This record gives sequence, structure tokens and C-alpha cells, in this order.
Amino acid sequence: MTAPKLPGHPHIAYQGDELFIENVRLSDLARQYGTPLFVYSKAAMLSALAAYQRGFAGRKVQICYAMKANSSLGVLQVFAQAGCGFDIVSGGELERVLAAGGEAKRVIFSGVGKTRAEMRRALEAGIGCFNVESEAELEVLNDVALAMHQRAPVSIRVNPNVDPKTHPYISTGLKGNKFGIAHERTLATYQRAASLPGLQVVGIDCHIGSQITQEEPYLDAMDRVLDLVETIEAAGIPLHHIDFGGGLGIDYNDDTPPAADALWAKLLAKLDARGFGGRQLMIEPGRSLVGNAGVCLTEVMYLKPGEQKNFCIVDAAMNDLPRPAMYQAFHRIVPLTSRPATSTLYDVVGPICESGDWIGRDRSLAVAPGDLLAVLSAGAYCMSMASNYNTRGRAAEVLIDMNQVHLIRVRENPADTFSHERLPT
Ligand code: LLP
Repeated sequence: MTAPKLPGHPHIAYQGDELFIENVRLSDLARQYGTPLFVYSKAAMLSALAAYQRGFAGRKVQICYAMKANSSLGVLQVFAQAGCGFDIVSGGELERVLAAGGEAKRVIFSGVGKTRAEMRRALEAGIGCFNVESEAELEVLNDVALAMHQRAPVSIRVNPNVDPKTHPYISTGLKGNKFGIAHERTLATYQRAASLPGLQVVGIDCHIGSQITQEEPYLDAMDRVLDLVETIEAAGIPLHHIDFGGGLGIDYNDDTPPAADALWAKLLAKLDARGFGGRQLMIEPGRSLVGNAGVCLTEVMYLKPGEQKNFCIVDAAMNDLPRPAMYQAFHRIVPLTSRPATSTLYDVVGPICESGDWIGRDRSLAVAPGDLLAVLSAGAYCMSMASNYNTRGRAAEVLIDMNQVHLIRVRENPADTFSHERLPT
């Protein structure tokens, strides 16, 4: 077997038979830090960001990294130092931004269920904007801001009712979703917001879904949002910024999403044609900045041949990599050392006591116990969704910056997993 090619994974490649991330051999990291281990390439994150920056050259834009994709402090620091803002969805995420050196004024706060305490803390920190998702939330935010003698900057998330053609769990801009304000209610909601003394209307936002691999849903959503901007401004409510959310997909397995700069060339042409080219813009990309910058290393523990299926049991599991179990998602799995041997078809599974604990199905692998594998495209929505199910400590994480290896998260041990629990006395 020759070493597989890894298109869509800049900075992750075989040198001879050995898989490297930047200048570091992954099998060395697995031996030093143990497995399962998440490894991220700083250069890959910055080159994903650069594609957006190229696309927006000469424009007024704030890129707010949607940190739910990967909220590890070391990853946040990379984006904060590169000048990004952050899209947050909880008070916890705000504390992470501040701990990583991000600036509160570049934070936008999304989410349908912000608590009063979260609103207060965000106002106190001085965040840039609340992306409000319901009429009821507007009233509560107004109360909280007035009690603090402040005016909360708000944008209203509108639901453009566009099908992003992705997995139903990660579609968010359709009428049946819990997110945003319906198109028909938008003007009335803006009028209410503009009348509330504790609020300052600053923008409009939308986010139609995630892992979007086509341009059309974005172009359709933009048209619908711009129609609304015209209506709202005609009613005498100026909007300082327009936020088009995140959602751009990555290549997991022969997926062909548009490149960020190519997509934005088309979207900006539309904005220009409709006379909004000079407007302050915002975007909230998550997965497309980090997804293909990370891998999860895992060791083959046992091979279990069966009548119907052969199982390759590895030491990573659905608590580390929840996407296959949750969305039947596909992640490529490749060896850290490519060997010329015959392959067998395996289901790659973890040690958790559930049939849903699989990482890849029907994968052709030439493996033996003790071999090391890399699960690709593991930079987004893996560690940030990891759990302690089966009292498994969460994995360690390292960030690679050329030759430098930074341990950015220490592996949890069993005592860490129950350190917040108390025995009733
Ligand atoms: N903005 C808002 C308001 C969002 O809800 C999201 C993601 C984003 C931005 C970033 O979207 P991205 O650029 O990453 O597609 N756990 C799922 C994905 C959930 C996405 C939730 N919202 C997965 O593993 O596929």
C-alpha cells in the first residue's frame, strides 16, 4: 500500500511512510503524550483564516470565530492573536474568550436561551453585540440593560427559510427550526427593539446551517436578508452591520465545498450589485477554520474477526469523537505509518458499551494491535463535544507550530472526572 494522499488537509501529509503535521511526526507525539490525542496545526488554522481574509480584502469585515467548533484556550489564542472576534453561545464561552486574551468588544453573543446572568456578565464585559433570537428575549435583555443603566447593542437573527441542503440536525435557517425570527415578524420585531430604551439596534444576522457545500443557499439567504435590510431601513431603523453567520463546509470525504475566497467573491458581487458593498460585515465561521486543521490519534487495541463484521477496536471512542454516533458523520481514518500489507474491511469502534460507539464503518485497513491511526477532520466539533461517558477522561490536545509542540490540554484522569461530585453525608 502506498501512503494515501490527503487532499483538503494542508499541513498534514505523509513524508515517506510516516504521517506528519507540519514538521512533526505524529507517531512521536502519540508515543510521548499517549492516545487518544488531538493534534492541531496552527498553520492550517491560519491558512483557513487567510482564505476568508483574501476574500474580504479591502472590505469592512469582522470575522468572529464560532468557538463552539473548538473552544480550547490554545485554539482561541491563535484566532485572538490573528485579530478575530468570537461568536459565543454561553457565558462559559465568554469566560474562555477572556481567559485566552480575546477582546470582549469583538464578541457577539448568539443562542436562543441566554440567561439574565449571562446577559449581565456580557454587558459588564462590554461585548460587541447580542444576536437576539426571539421577541421575548428582547424584553428580558431590555430589562437587564436598564437595571444596569446601559443600552445593550442588538442584532436580530432572522430566519431566511432557506434549505442549506445539509444534515437535518445542523440545518438552522428553515421555518421549522427553533432559531431566529420568522421573515414575516422581522419588521415588527425591529420596531419593538427600536422603541425599547435599554436596547440599541446595531445590526441584523442570519445563520442557515452547518457543513454547507453549495453556494446557492448562501446566495438565496443573502437576497432575503438584504430585502429585510431595505424594509427595516425604509421604516427609519438604520443597521450598522450585516452578519451572515457561518456554515461553510469542509472536505471530510470527497466533499467539494467552495473555497471561502471564491464563495465570498460571489457574495460580495451580489452585495455590490444591491448597493450594500460598503456596509460593515460580519461572519461567524467555525468548522471551516479548524475542522481540517486537526486529527485525533488513536491506538489499535484488538482485532476481532466476526462472521458478519470484523471489528478494529481502538482506544478513542464516541466520548472523544461524537460525530459518527450523532450524525452518522464520516471521518477518514488513516495509518500513522503506512505499510505494504493486505487490507481487511473493518468497523473501527471504541471501548464504550454501546453499539453506536463507532468511528468508521467498512474501512479497508492493514492493521495490527499496537498500530496507530489518525482520525482526520477532527479539529471541529470533536473535543468541544467530548464527554466523560463511561468515566473516560477527556483526551489531551497539542498544538503544532512548525517544529514546536505545545501541550494545550492535559489528559484528564479518573479523579478529574468526578472531582465535582460529593458523597451525601
Ligand atoms: N453561528 C451560529 C449562530 C451557529 O449556530 C453556528 C453553528 C455557527 C455560527 C458556526 O457554524 P460552522 O461554520 O461551524 O458551520 N455539531 C455539529 C455542528 C453544529 C453547528 C451549530 N452551529 C457537527 O458536528 O456537525
